[in-house]
Amino acid sequence: MKISVIGCGYVGLVTGIGFAELGNSIIFVDTDDVKVNMINALKTPIYEPGLEELMGRNKGRFYATKDYREAIQNSEVTLICVGTPSMEDGSIDLSYVKASAEQIGRSLSEKDEYHIVVVKSTVLPGTTEEIVKPIIEKESGKRAFEDFGLAMNPEFLREGNAIEDFFKPDRIVIGVRDESTRSWLEELYRFFSCPKLVTDIKTAEMIKYASNAFLATKISFANEIGNICKKLGMDAYRVFEGVGLDHRINPAFFRAGIGFGGSCLPKDIRALIRRAEELGEQPRILRAVIEVNENQPLRLIELLKKHVQSLRGKKIGILGLAFKPGTDDVRESRAILIVKKLIEEGARVLAYDPKAVENFRKLFPDIEYASSAEELVAESDAIMIVTEWRDFENLDYRGKIVIDGRRIERAMKEAKIYEGVCW
Ligand code: UGA
Repeated sequence: MKISVIGCGYVGLVTGIGFAELGNSIIFVDTDDVKVNMINALKTPIYEPGLEELMGRNKGRFYATKDYREAIQNSEVTLICVGTPSMEDGSIDLSYVKASAEQIGRSLSEKDEYHIVVVKSTVLPGTTEEIVKPIIEKESGKRAFEDFGLAMNPEFLREGNAIEDFFKPDRIVIGVRDESTRSWLEELYRFFSCPKLVTDIKTAEMIKYASNAFLATKISFANEIGNICKKLGMDAYRVFEGVGLDHRINPAFFRAGIGFGGSCLPKDIRALIRRAEELGEQPRILRAVIEVNENQPLRLIELLKKHVQSLRGKKIGILGLAFKPGTDDVRESRAILIVKKLIEEGARVLAYDPKAVENFRKLFPDIEYASSAEELVAESDAIMIVTEWRDFENLDYRGKIVIDGRRIERAMKEAKIYEGVCW
């Protein structure tokens, strides 16, 4: 199939290259020259393990352009994969989705053949039919579900594991209204053997939000129970090992610690809260999920203060800046809240991450950065572990004060003074 992919972030790029690997030809569209040029030079503009190798292997099956018209004319299906960031008040910013719908509509007005538009961006229930559809219809002069196909197909890719998640999904959700679009999408996903759930468009949109909200709820729940465990002198990991063995519960997403960050969970939960409030609902659980998550990183500081009374002038090493291992992404990273608080307390911050230093430096240009994890451990008065990069298991923590938000076993065994946030 010939597919155009709008937006070359990690969702667009991984999805497009994944479909290229399955034998499709892909045209990427992005407004950013740098991204377009990098993709055409077989380089990935984002860090995602295995992606560049996959791009190299599929050379000739894809290219990138800034030209929507060219991409729409030369493809049968368009996947909208642009970002849906948060506004100041937590509500969803649809400006990129709207802009791409406009461009797609304009290009469709010049195309005679049938074309299918699929929203993959995370959008609140109702968006595809109430916002995207009218924009495309207005710009193209065509009618959805008759002259062109329209669907919503949420993505469930995790940053850092996105390629594996693309090829081995737990499920594929296809939100459609008309038979023709349904059969096109079933054809597109024919190589996948996982359950495929076909729903109406709004339901597909909601499945994405409910999934992310539940994952976030599991984490905040684990943290709340973990905080109680800590006070009672217990190890939350042992507790959740026992809890997760119940097949109704499942062990995943029970890693207690300093909470969830990233470009998806925090933003999606906030957007869902805002939408629920607009509808006159009181989303109590969702609000509590965010509240627990915002307080959790600060517990590390409290634990640090048990052992270092005054932080003023002390050199505190932050091991890990990415919101999770396997990515250079620092959006909503727990490290941001921790570093802000340390600066407020007058500490000198020394930071290190294997991949995310450049992105973190844009937020905190004035703190110090170590050139290696070893240097950070050697030079810090106390160390806080904020991201569980595997390499941090190889460091020598002997003689050190370590406050651990992510459970690095070696630090647990070796450090002179060790505190785990929920263990
Ligand atoms: C998340 C979802 O897991 C994906 O299914 C979804 O497709 C994606 O959002 C999205 O909406 O695009 P992602 O943000 O890449 O994926 O990362 P996760 O692996 O979910 O981790 C999110 C945060 O939760 C990280 O900060 C991680 O450290 C934290 N976490 C995760 C925990 O604190 N404990 C856990 O047990 C699991």
